[in-house]
Amino acid sequence: MNLNILLLPGDGIGVEVTREAVKVLRQVASAFKHELTLSEGLLGGIAIQKTGVPFPDETRELALKTDATLLGAVGLPEFDNAPPEKRPERGLLGIRKALGVYANLRPVRSYKALINSSPLKNELVDGTDMIIVRELTGGLYYGTPRGISGSGAEERAVNTMIYTRPEIERVAHMAFQLAGKRRKKVTSVDKSNVLENSQLWRRVVTEIAARYPDVTLDHILVDNCAMQLVLQPRRFDVVLTENMFGDILSDEGAVLAGSIGMLPSASIGDKRPSGAWVGLYEPVHGSAPDIAGKNKANPLGAIGSVAALLEYSFGLTEEARAVYGAIENVLNAGRVTADLKPAGTPASTSEVGDAVCEALSAHAAIA
Ligand code: IPM
Ligand code: MN
Repeated sequence: MNLNILLLPGDGIGVEVTREAVKVLRQVASAFKHELTLSEGLLGGIAIQKTGVPFPDETRELALKTDATLLGAVGLPEFDNAPPEKRPERGLLGIRKALGVYANLRPVRSYKALINSSPLKNELVDGTDMIIVRELTGGLYYGTPRGISGSGAEERAVNTMIYTRPEIERVAHMAFQLAGKRRKKVTSVDKSNVLENSQLWRRVVTEIAARYPDVTLDHILVDNCAMQLVLQPRRFDVVLTENMFGDILSDEGAVLAGSIGMLPSASIGDKRPSGAWVGLYEPVHGSAPDIAGKNKANPLGAIGSVAALLEYSFGLTEEARAVYGAIENVLNAGRVTADLKPAGTPASTSEVGDAVCEALSAHAAIA
């Protein structure tokens, strides 16, 4: 198979973790005899520095014609005080919208080998295995009107939380279909005791649930969800929620996994005529400028995103399983970066990438 992939390393540690993810991609391609065609584009702070805008047209065109896009991270401190349209983050929102990737799948699991990496009690996190389905192209992130106007005592800022019925329906379908292949439980998160937006969300999700009789649905308010995530994380299977709530809850979920560096994500939209998902794959973590360039960042979120890319955009489930297996091997061997607080000397970013490749080639030798 020819794997045509666009790389957008972005800013900060995005560059380092993408480099390791590419090593793994090459290893998979050679072990499973696929042809790899990689192109590279600019997104985020680096794009502003080189072209003046966070999401150049050239990047848009590349992303639209490539089978799948692998992204590092965006964000640079030098743009902290810039207006929203001149910020690196706007590039990320732009590409999500341009590709129409409305469902962001963020699996959160507690690996046995990392049980001591989480600050939470072992018996609490042990066995956690959930997937957060975050709506990604609507809500407060994109709603208009938005902006800051006026001055002095008249100065005001507005954002708009807006969802249409079809936007809720399509992401709800995604969540129920995923749940059907897992433990058959969807928990929908909202704030329907206060927000009309959430009232519509709850009503539409309930309607869609009726079409999936083998999946159970429960609803939880977002504040309670934040608490239950750390009180009884095993109660969750598929967590379905809107954009902003999902952004916040998934960082909390990272604590269950041991480190945010562990979390991969797949953002998918509609299927292409070939049956493959349009997809954008990125680790959940940010650009972490404080450790950028130090070969310290955890590349496993990015490498896990490679596995998701193989699975969703190319239907290569065996290859994806091999990558997940290699990650687990490396964790069991204790070859992990400092964020996971290993008992021995922490490994560097590139050492972890190499270890995953070694585990993959051992797997290929057996297979
Ligand atoms: C994420 C990030 C982004 C988001 C930022 C960088 C715009 O926090 O992917 O979770 O808020 O979606
Ligand atoms: Mn986030």
